[in-house]
Amino acid sequence: MKKVYVGMSADLVHPGHLNILKRAAELGEVTVGLLTDRAIASYKRVPYMTFEQRRAVVESLKFVSKVVPQETLDYTDNLMVLKPEFVVHGDDWQEGVQKNTRARVIETLSNWGGQLVEVPYTNGISSTKLSSAIKELGTTPNIRLKSLRRLIDSKPIVRLLDIHNGLSALIVENASIETEQGRREFDGMWASSLTDSTSKGKPDIEAVDVSARMVTLNEVLEVTTKPIVYDGDTGGKPEHFSFTVRTLERLGVSAVIIEDKTGLKKNSLFGNDVEQSQDSVDNFCNKIRIGKSSQTTEDFMVIARIESLILDKPMSDAIERAKAYLDAGADGIMIHSRKKDPSEIFEFCRQYGLIPNRRTLVAVPSSYSSVYEDQLQELGVNIVIYANHLLRSAYPAMVKTAKTILEHRRAEEADASLLPIKDVLELIPGTK
Ligand code: SPV
Ligand code: MG
Repeated sequence: MKKVYVGMSADLVHPGHLNILKRAAELGEVTVGLLTDRAIASYKRVPYMTFEQRRAVVESLKFVSKVVPQETLDYTDNLMVLKPEFVVHGDDWQEGVQKNTRARVIETLSNWGGQLVEVPYTNGISSTKLSSAIKELGTTPNIRLKSLRRLIDSKPIVRLLDIHNGLSALIVENASIETEQGRREFDGMWASSLTDSTSKGKPDIEAVDVSARMVTLNEVLEVTTKPIVYDGDTGGKPEHFSFTVRTLERLGVSAVIIEDKTGLKKNSLFGNDVEQSQDSVDNFCNKIRIGKSSQTTEDFMVIARIESLILDKPMSDAIERAKAYLDAGADGIMIHSRKKDPSEIFEFCRQYGLIPNRRTLVAVPSSYSSVYEDQLQELGVNIVIYANHLLRSAYPAMVKTAKTILEHRRAEEADASLLPIKDVLELIPGTK
């Protein structure tokens, strides 16, 4: 029997896949190289089903003899082991992100006279179409909650952007660009206290209380499917934090981040320009423990935010706190800095990497904005938060329009920088 190799994601198995596998089975014994979550996430979104679920589906197909994991987009390693006579694939990979993979397959097969067989693309159905149909159907709190951990496990770095109402959340949900490496988009949302308060015209001092924050959150939940990380400020009194955790979890929020400050909370980016005091390690560990013991699912995350660098305390203080908070059960650490120069953040990341029970690390490059995601990723950062960029870009645009109208006593001069009325009407599905 000849050996045939088929690489696939098999997340949403449809007749197009069966067509390929059927052709492969006509040629010989079929081994499916099932792309791991990481391999898939390297060029498109994380699959809906886990690797094990996808394996169970593919293994039970009559055309398939064996399933092996394929760890990267590149087939070479698996091909070198199996040395198949044939590789079968849909002919839709001649262009786009998989073009290079195809070239490597042909080159590798040529070492033993193997052959690439391409099956014509099945019109009218595709994983991409099914995927957007699923997105339109929405999500459930449970699925959304779990999705952050899956992203952390399968993406080199998880990218979040601030939301403060339904519209900003739709931007985070839908904005994307096509790149050489595939589609690039935001993985989830940061429910910022600064931008939520600011968009309500209120100071970022926990004056917008948890109930009001939940109103914003509900707007966002209603129109999106991506995971949400909630900015919990200080978390309030430990007894109150317990309720916040349960509320967030019930809504399908994936994580809360609380900062180790006490008293009247002030925005971190002020640093010592205003009076801010840091909580004791013991008190804050207690708050973390209470949060962790309040959650009902396995998946919800309580992440501890360290304000030592914000308050000009030494690096050793930040690292000692990281160790204590992890020992208290925090699922991760967010480190914050208000310096333009990222060196203190880099140093923290290096030392954090040496902590044996290190978990998820979160960075917020607001002041050190020159840093690239790749640099953070190399230093072990798992989540990058662009914490306030949507609100900060909207505000100057709105002020400019207001002033233009005042200046000219009519609106025409503002038109050039406005979203056309036709586009506003088409922006939100269902407006027509
Ligand atoms: C927020 O977005 O509300 C934050 C991040 O907490 S920062 O404003 O940088 O403190
Ligand atoms: Mg905040």
